[in-house]
Amino acid sequence: MVSQVIRAMKIHSGDTVVDGTAGEGGHAEKIAGVLGGSGVLVLIDRDKEMLSVAEERLSGVKTRLISGSGSYAYIKPFLRENCIDRVSSVLLDLGFSKRHIEKSGRGMSFLKNELLDMRYDPHSGEPAYRWINRADKKELLRVIKRFGQERNSKRVAEEIVRKRKEKPIMYTRELAEIAALAAECRKNIHPATKTFQAIRIYINDELGELRRGMKACCDVIKKGGRLVLLTYHSLEAKVVKGIFSELSGKCGCPENFPLCRCGADRKRPLIKEVKVSGKSPTATEISENPSARSAKMRVFEILKEKV
Ligand SMILES: C[S@@+](CC[C@H](N)C(=O)[O-])C[C@H]1O[C@@H](n2cnc3c(N)ncnc32)[C@H](O)[C@@H]1O
Repeated sequence: MVSQVIRAMKIHSGDTVVDGTAGEGGHAEKIAGVLGGSGVLVLIDRDKEMLSVAEERLSGVKTRLISGSGSYAYIKPFLRENCIDRVSSVLLDLGFSKRHIEKSGRGMSFLKNELLDMRYDPHSGEPAYRWINRADKKELLRVIKRFGQERNSKRVAEEIVRKRKEKPIMYTRELAEIAALAAECRKNIHPATKTFQAIRIYINDELGELRRGMKACCDVIKKGGRLVLLTYHSLEAKVVKGIFSELSGKCGCPENFPLCRCGADRKRPLIKEVKVSGKSPTATEISENPSARSAKMRVFEILKEKV
């Protein structure tokens, strides 16, 4: 979906643009092609190793590059440190990359037998194996149910607690075997998929970062500029919908609330959604990159700059 994304960002030569999830630099390389020698491209990724891959890939471009490792949720202080006030566009391509599965060695997937770390930034926070071996049954159940939407979350949590009494659960294969015994079985989907997704989302606080990050990005984009998001599952889509409601002035409170408490300001919408074609990948794109099959693009335009 690279060309659709670049079109949706509505960028021009000489603009200052942020790729908040630089990854392997695939989108960034194309963005730099549009910005040219007079533009500035800010590369952010929470994973230092991924950022180095993107920097290496873009080492030959003419665009001025500024890069920083950390969460896109800290976009405001990061831009301020680099004396950038406003930008034309921000791209957030959420989740993890193919390289995380194939080369990170951090146990992001059950396809390889690796230590269950799962952190994008291995220098901060708690590795997954530590949490899996210390969390009580109630917490395990809550996380697997909420972030994995796993129907048999209770059985998975119980099985984790039973197995770790024998010996600590340290490797992806051990967790995948537990999930294979206890999780819901669905056609064409490995039974460990939802458990792995849940633990990865929880360990990296992915939805919290998205909530804070989407708002922070809207604060730094100039009037008429765009925020383009690629989401990969319904939990991300739900967060984006909620923040959009708030910033566009639509009340997102539950129907039974007598008064609005979500902070939506009907009279002063800050953003609007832009309808674009090609919001999902084509069949050819999916056959080239199967992990992109669930990608959905959302495009927002800034109506009013935050002072
Ligand atoms: C789907 S990949 C991006 C791929 C990239 N668009 C490309 O063309 O190669 C998502 C990237 O976001 C990074 N990431 C995840 N959460 C992040 C966060 N809160 N802040 C910044 N980067 C994050 C991951 O480390 C990963 O490299």
